[in-house]
Amino acid sequence: MTNFTLKNSALHAENVALSQIAAEFNTPCYVYSKAALTQAFTSFKAGLVGTNHLVCFAVKANPNIAILNVFAKLGAGFDIVSGGELARVLAAGGDPKKIVFSGVGKNAEEMRAALSAGIFCFNVESASELARLNNVAGEMGKIAPVSLRVNPNVDAKTHPYISTGLKNNKFGVAFEEAIAVYEAAAAMPNIAVHGVDCHIGSQITELAPFIEALDLILGLVDKLETKGIPISHIDVGGGIGITYSDEAPPAFTTYAKAILDKINKRNVKLLFEPGRALVGNAGVLLTKVEYLKPSAKNSDAKNFAIVDAAMNDLMRPALYDAFHNIVAVKPRVGAAETYEIVGPVCESGDFLGHDRNLNLAEGDLLAIMSAGAYGMSMASNYNTRGRAAEIMVDGDKCHVIRQREKIADLFALETCLK
Ligand code: LLP
Repeated sequence: MTNFTLKNSALHAENVALSQIAAEFNTPCYVYSKAALTQAFTSFKAGLVGTNHLVCFAVKANPNIAILNVFAKLGAGFDIVSGGELARVLAAGGDPKKIVFSGVGKNAEEMRAALSAGIFCFNVESASELARLNNVAGEMGKIAPVSLRVNPNVDAKTHPYISTGLKNNKFGVAFEEAIAVYEAAAAMPNIAVHGVDCHIGSQITELAPFIEALDLILGLVDKLETKGIPISHIDVGGGIGITYSDEAPPAFTTYAKAILDKINKRNVKLLFEPGRALVGNAGVLLTKVEYLKPSAKNSDAKNFAIVDAAMNDLMRPALYDAFHNIVAVKPRVGAAETYEIVGPVCESGDFLGHDRNLNLAEGDLLAIMSAGAYGMSMASNYNTRGRAAEIMVDGDKCHVIRQREKIADLFALETCLK
């Protein structure tokens, strides 16, 4: 089910034509469908009915407060990785008691903010972090609720940059050291051990790596219990993939069933940290063709379509060679040509798609699909380009959920020497 469909030969987000959005708000802009966000969240939960669980949206995938607010109203929790993300969740009306705080480099100030807010749990990633958290909590007269993020050394079979559960990744406490670190945690006066956490990577399209990791985690939980360290929740992380082209990730219900079968009536709360799966296919990046640059006659050079979005708006293609489908907002009849779809940034790596068959004219609008996750959240101001506007469509209404950045704002924090 997609909420971006052709109606009368023109691409719409729900009931709004993307051409109307471009005319009103200009390009490039991100366009999200509220119905798609809602459907993703409710279908993620569908396989978990009747179980003690909490779905914590991984804020890094898309931190716009309007998006967080949609999920908060649906009862979501949140997985954060910084004090900035904590502030966003609170500003968006998120419940602090449903927040888990992941990340390898939490500083003391971020720990204080999270302790003051009263978050559900810290996912601690090293023995040093644990010691610091114990000190910070002690200074504040608080007890910090803790899970250790353990690194199960499982191959998630995804892009090396987004694989996190191998022992050569920087994440988590090494599996062999986990018991010793748990024992240290249990002996600390300002730490309360609550859970076990693991996250093995992102855009995972097979069930096997999740199950392999969970088997190891359950073995660890059993060992901890024999040592008098009871575990009340297991956080299985995020990572479930989406379809960008022809990937076939497991359905949410299949994924949930496989996990619940393993948990098999244990008395634990289950936590999930999906990011991409909840927002990836709920957003597109809308862009306009500025120039067509055909290849020189009789050469084997490429045809270029230079669009007004660039690597600074969507860096996944440049960074991971990631594929995003690119479609015409008003498809033309007639013969297509093969184009490199590139942006205005001064780097050869500034491409959004290679070898795309499209029938294009200058001024045409294109939608870069599946851009709702790690699109705007990884955007930058490279080449002093203001970041795109963000629009959320709800039925036949459009809401500006982030204004386009103004040029003057881009250097407003800078000063010349006197
Ligand atoms: N939990 C933790 C601790 C994480 O590090 C991540 C993502 C998630 C949950 C959510 O994972 P997801 O369900 O979205 O796969 N920028 C890359 C993805 C980086 C993912 C980093 N961690 C991309 O554009 O593909």
